[in-house]
Amino acid sequence: MKQIQCRIAGLLMAMVAVGMLAACEGQEPEAQKERILPPETGQDEAVKIGFSMDTLKEERWLKDRDLFRQAAEKLGAEVEIAAANGDDALQIAQAEAMIQGGIDVLVIVPHNAEATAAIVHKAHEAGIKVIAYDRLVKNADVDLYVSFDNEQVGELQARAILDAVPKGNYAYIGGAPTDNNVHLIKKGVLNVLQPAIDRGDVNIVYDEWTDDWAPENAQHNMAEALRANGNQIDAVIAANDATAGGAIKALAAQGMNGKIPVAGQDAELAAAQRIVAGTQTMTVYKPIQNLTAQVAELAVQLAKGEEIMTSVSVNNGKTEVPSILLAPTAVDAGNLADTVIADGFHSKEEVYQEAKND
Ligand code: BGC
Repeated sequence: MKQIQCRIAGLLMAMVAVGMLAACEGQEPEAQKERILPPETGQDEAVKIGFSMDTLKEERWLKDRDLFRQAAEKLGAEVEIAAANGDDALQIAQAEAMIQGGIDVLVIVPHNAEATAAIVHKAHEAGIKVIAYDRLVKNADVDLYVSFDNEQVGELQARAILDAVPKGNYAYIGGAPTDNNVHLIKKGVLNVLQPAIDRGDVNIVYDEWTDDWAPENAQHNMAEALRANGNQIDAVIAANDATAGGAIKALAAQGMNGKIPVAGQDAELAAAQRIVAGTQTMTVYKPIQNLTAQVAELAVQLAKGEEIMTSVSVNNGKTEVPSILLAPTAVDAGNLADTVIADGFHSKEEVYQEAKND
């Protein structure tokens, strides 16, 4: 709005200036109007996208930030980025500042699925559409949700670990409960494990969330799992690679690293190296480049008022949010080269060289 007001004011000033010039030259201002070109319609202006991020802590979010900027700029859009370091109040304040600063569309990675509903509300009051990026915002009229299929992430993890350990004691190291993905991932894990649990083959002897996804909290949880079960744990499913890394440290403290299977998610470089070294069994690869390319395109379309049709919708407690869910891939030592490395997500040198240096 402010932008539009400025544009009109600028145009009026230009017209007055030309009119004065025409008057000085003794010509009718009317005749000069043809030369006042072109009145700005705003249509050629770059779309301005606000990208409100929870955190840049995990390696993946740095990729999201950089690839999203690149994808958007390739489409001629401008991107304003803010990361909130896991602070809800800060994320809300940063998003508000973007809204007031005149963005055309808001893309948000919520730290807290519930708290960020306030941002969606404020954006809508200003006529700005909102895309939930990777994580859903709950209980708000989100315009679009684009992510990977998080339930499938959990299914891939559980299938890989169940293949390796069809019977035994499992520890589940969950993610941050404030992140909606975490509940979807766990649902996926249980989709696969439940029949084995019902048969009495699999026993989940430890099941805890990891506050703020912090690796030190995951390490603490895993140490507690080992202590409470006298180290009688046969497999670990961790919600992502950062928490897997923490869990593996706790296993190492008991001389158990590399001895029992561990699953993670994100295909972080450190996880790829651990897979090569044999201390982590698998990860779930989510090609961030596909997510950023999709969202950048959709953000520009939404900003231009175009309608987006999706074949899927996800209920967020308030509404059926039109959604796009991309496919994740299970990665282990067998297909690391054909997936993560082949895509250039990490180079072969990084993955293998560093593993040798471990
Ligand atoms: C993302 C994961 C990420 C985790 C921690 C989740 O919402 O889907 O890729 O590892 O947050 O940041």
